[in-house]
Amino acid sequence: MAARRSRPPAETRSSGARPPGEVVERARQLRELIEYHNERYFVFDEPEVADAEFDALVRELRALEAEHPSLVTSDSPTQRPGGRPASTFAPVTHRLPMLSIDNAFSREELLAWGTRVQRLITEPIRFVAEPKLDGLAVSLTYVDGVFTIGATRGDGVTGENVTENLRTLADIPPKLKGKAKDIPALLEVRGEVLMPLAAFEALNHRQGDAGERLFTNARNAAAGSLRQKDPGITATRDLALFTYQLGIKEGGPRLRTHEQTLAWMKALGFPVNPHIKAFDDLDGVFAFIEDIEHNRHSLGYDIDGVVAKVDDLGQRAEMGFTSRAPRWAIAYKFPPEEKTTILRDIMVSIGRTGRATPFAVLEPVFVGGANVGMATLHNEDDVARKDVRPGDTVVVRRAGDVIPEVVGPVVAKRPPKTKPWKFPKKCPECGQPLVRVEGEANHHCVNVDCPAQRVQRLVHWASRGATDIEGLGEERVRQFVDAGLLEDAADIYALTVDRLVPLDRIGERSAQLLVDAIEASKRQPLWRVLVGLGINHVGPTAAQALARAFDDVNAIMTATEEQLTAIDGVGPTIAQSIGRWFSIDRNRRLLERLRAAGVDPPGEHGQQREIVDASFAGLTFVLTGSLENRTRDEAADEIAARGGKATSSVSKKTSYVVVGESPGSKFAKAEELGVTILDEAAFEALLAGGQPTLNDQV
Ligand code: IVH
Repeated sequence: MAARRSRPPAETRSSGARPPGEVVERARQLRELIEYHNERYFVFDEPEVADAEFDALVRELRALEAEHPSLVTSDSPTQRPGGRPASTFAPVTHRLPMLSIDNAFSREELLAWGTRVQRLITEPIRFVAEPKLDGLAVSLTYVDGVFTIGATRGDGVTGENVTENLRTLADIPPKLKGKAKDIPALLEVRGEVLMPLAAFEALNHRQGDAGERLFTNARNAAAGSLRQKDPGITATRDLALFTYQLGIKEGGPRLRTHEQTLAWMKALGFPVNPHIKAFDDLDGVFAFIEDIEHNRHSLGYDIDGVVAKVDDLGQRAEMGFTSRAPRWAIAYKFPPEEKTTILRDIMVSIGRTGRATPFAVLEPVFVGGANVGMATLHNEDDVARKDVRPGDTVVVRRAGDVIPEVVGPVVAKRPPKTKPWKFPKKCPECGQPLVRVEGEANHHCVNVDCPAQRVQRLVHWASRGATDIEGLGEERVRQFVDAGLLEDAADIYALTVDRLVPLDRIGERSAQLLVDAIEASKRQPLWRVLVGLGINHVGPTAAQALARAFDDVNAIMTATEEQLTAIDGVGPTIAQSIGRWFSIDRNRRLLERLRAAGVDPPGEHGQQREIVDASFAGLTFVLTGSLENRTRDEAADEIAARGGKATSSVSKKTSYVVVGESPGSKFAKAEELGVTILDEAAFEALLAGGQPTLNDQV
């Protein structure tokens, strides 16, 4: 088929006034929040906010960027699908990126999508609607009909190689069915790995019995089960698969529609969801959405909406993609579900940083596909605003996913003589005062030795996103703290089999496994240790940036705020927070003890990329604005690989300033100092070994 790709006109950019400071700041904040929650979701499999809340952040950022196009950066989360690969598995680069789908939250937004796509082509459009499966996307590659590579989506460009784990799924055919002549030389099938709800309940039951952590929902359980180091564990987890899309295909029959594609995938031996239907208009699609929404809990697995797709593959090719999603599909997201129940009590939990978070203890109620017995109430103001009181009948909302929320009281059902709830004055765990600093929303337990904080700090240290000590979850940490074996992270490294076996529920074998896991964690890279330290604002992204820039923890400790902020991905908030953390004696003592215990990983600084040639030796580059072909970090790597240096501030000594889209003040500075300015094309030519000519210059 001839690839006629009629693109709609490029969005017009209003080159006018600069956005006001508070808008710039809000956009920055939103990016940071989105990045953070993306990481909680994709890297840690432990989201902190409901999907609906996350979607609201993305929508707010999009709206700001639409109003002020100069705010758009190439690395903005609105410009790429969420998620990034975690590093336990080898990376797999997707030959075709695994994109995201744009969302619609109402009938109007669905119809508006219909109008948009119909504007792109003349013939009428036929739609296919299918459940939006709430699992994790995988790519399955078959070479000559044999399953060869299986990968997670990761950040859409690079995923994780989980082939061996995927081989344990009964739903994944090891060989394609059919006659040899119909089997493509290369075929990539994409789909969603799910954990059926019955398997999820059974797994949590087993986890509970074994004192292991419980999974928040079936999606996280599926993700956690697929990303096991030991495929033998994945094999015990009853994962299922539905396929819904092809990636690379070389050979095989010519397919003209999505329906044909699904039928062919089925014939090859892949499971395809049975609830998929085609419609000639979006009214039909909407009726389907209502029907599926009504019946969603009888499906036996979690879904969070319906995906509507254009059926004709030729039409799809004409419609094309934006940078993050195809134009030919839209995900209609179900609104969160609500139910009423009795609020038994309001209690307060203490986190790793001492933050005291009120939560509702509820008469368990089945909502959003799960039994809910607790729900967050965020902070004092949230409780006051909702005015929920123990004894109230309350509305509980669960967005089919993460943390259930109390929406508010049914005042008509309020029992007599209730009083507004008051925030407790003392920490429920250690009895020390709970303090709310003026201007802040949260109360904190002021006692750094509070056992609850201690436990949470240790749990965080050992968590999957940090040093990843398998078998050291909350239950065990609590047990060890209570037994006087642990106070801080350094104590973990003094645990021995002999010290563990006298404890309840720990046999010789599990003690040995734990000690081995602890030993192995000493070899974790620097960034994971940095995450584990729990420095405010230092999540995996900032930690990785730091690890790339420094030799070790010591070098970070002695760095000035200026040196820190010079790193791409480290702003003033992070730099200050790092400074504050290292200024505290007990933190420095902790580092010393960790070092003595053998936890002192080197950074990647200086061991970056090998120099491929020395063509840039002696040259310094400053990058400003966003490049189309690569991120600034990647560009800096390319420069380093040629023996050059990328720095952050422009001076007379700077050899070149590379200017991308929406450059910052460095552009003006370069002009002022008369430094040679390169646009992206000229920079690429230089990388390719050419000389920048005057014409290439901006
Ligand atoms: S089609 C380019 N169909 O939703 C998009 N995706 O939010 C091709 N998903 O990454 C994907 N159910 O993981 C498609 N029936 C379905 C789906 C589905 C769930 C997931 C998929 C995708 C995400 C986007």
